Amino acid sequence: MRYDSITEAIGNTPLVRIDPAVHGLRHIDLYAKLEMLNPFGSVKDRSAWNMARPGLAGAAERGETVVELSSGNTAKALALLAGMHGLRFKSVTNRMRVPEIKELLLLLGAEIEELPGQSECLDPTDTEDPLTRFHQALAEPQSTYLHTDQYFNPRNTEAHVAGTGPEIVKDLDGRAPDWFIACVGTAGSSTGVARVLREHDPDVQVVGLVAHKSDFIPGIRTIDEVHQVGLFDPATYDTIASVTADEALDGMLTLIRRCGLLTGPTGGAAYHGAVRHLHTVDADSTERRTAVFIVCDRAESYLSYVRQRRPELFGRPAPKNSAHTLTDAEVRAEATVIDTEGARRWLASEHPPLVVDLRGPHAYAALHIDGSVNIVDELFDELVRTGLPFSKNRPVLLACPVGEKSTRYAALLTRMGHPDVRSLSGGIVAWRDAGAPLVRD
Ligand SMILES: Cc1ncc(COP(=O)(O)O)c(C=O)c1O
Repeated sequence: MRYDSITEAIGNTPLVRIDPAVHGLRHIDLYAKLEMLNPFGSVKDRSAWNMARPGLAGAAERGETVVELSSGNTAKALALLAGMHGLRFKSVTNRMRVPEIKELLLLLGAEIEELPGQSECLDPTDTEDPLTRFHQALAEPQSTYLHTDQYFNPRNTEAHVAGTGPEIVKDLDGRAPDWFIACVGTAGSSTGVARVLREHDPDVQVVGLVAHKSDFIPGIRTIDEVHQVGLFDPATYDTIASVTADEALDGMLTLIRRCGLLTGPTGGAAYHGAVRHLHTVDADSTERRTAVFIVCDRAESYLSYVRQRRPELFGRPAPKNSAHTLTDAEVRAEATVIDTEGARRWLASEHPPLVVDLRGPHAYAALHIDGSVNIVDELFDELVRTGLPFSKNRPVLLACPVGEKSTRYAALLTRMGHPDVRSLSGGIVAWRDAGAPLVRD
């Protein structure tokens, strides 16, 4: 293999069969499409290159900067591509939650701008969202940005129509698999591959995987966030299922420790979601059938993410108190939730609560409840591990973007013995929508 440019090494990734002794399916051959073997490390190399390529000619002369709303793999690929073409790269995001990825982007020469926003993906109807305002500024005629626009750019999907999909068909001797399973971030890879596979066989079943409601799996959306993605069309998927962060880590450990596949969490999520789905249909099969899932990227960038959730893997004691280990039923049973009206009355009462805002510092600085304190959720998580972070004498109101994380922590603090801790129902978004007052730093 000899290349003139590293970009020629993008694509043509291996399709590797998973040992049936590992997944236990009797009638289905399960294959992993190893997108982590792309040269910059992920499935996003294909779409980053396909989106950036048309704008590169003359971009350096025009003094353009490549810009993308990404805090992960797209940013990584674009930073490298920009460097190769004498351009600067700017990553705009609401919060870099995985420290290794932030450090890697800085190493690659990226400039990082963290802006507040409800999530990294834009809500185009929310004109107050600074990320939305930035997105609009990019489209202005005098803009000196080469904006790749991964959530809306059809060239994201087309990269997989041209490459990933046909490669799978070729490696399966000209046939589409019976099932295709992929995690959904921008939806580019799943949409593009599904389109190609259905052209070969309209009966192929496509399973899209998202993160469980209150869970964070770096690189993919939750079921609520996915509808904000311009490229997402529910009709692409026969089934949309969610995977918890815990399940993603189980899948990741199985692929790493038993299959030699050094996958990151979303590869683990795809494996877990695939095997769970396929076990429900395996017994109905008489002939041999085939399924393919995507391994998006590698493990090394997620060590702190894994350490936070599985400290015992790193020889550290399991935390006594963790919101991550509570089940949904436990959260429902133990958390006290209060709506905006109730919270406003409580704040105006003789014994007002301490309001703890668990959002990122930028979102907090933009708008928050007057008098609240900001403890970003990762830090809060560390604090509660060693014991109650507040006196039991002071009631506490917890707030987060939409009320899910705060409910989990309300359940945990109640379990730890705090007599009066409540979660703001619907979070700061519901508070804002109800017209309740917010202040700005
Ligand atoms: C780690 C990881 N997994 C999965 C995906 C999903 O890919 P797509 O954006 O094509 O839906 C992404 C996208 O950024 C990702 O970074």
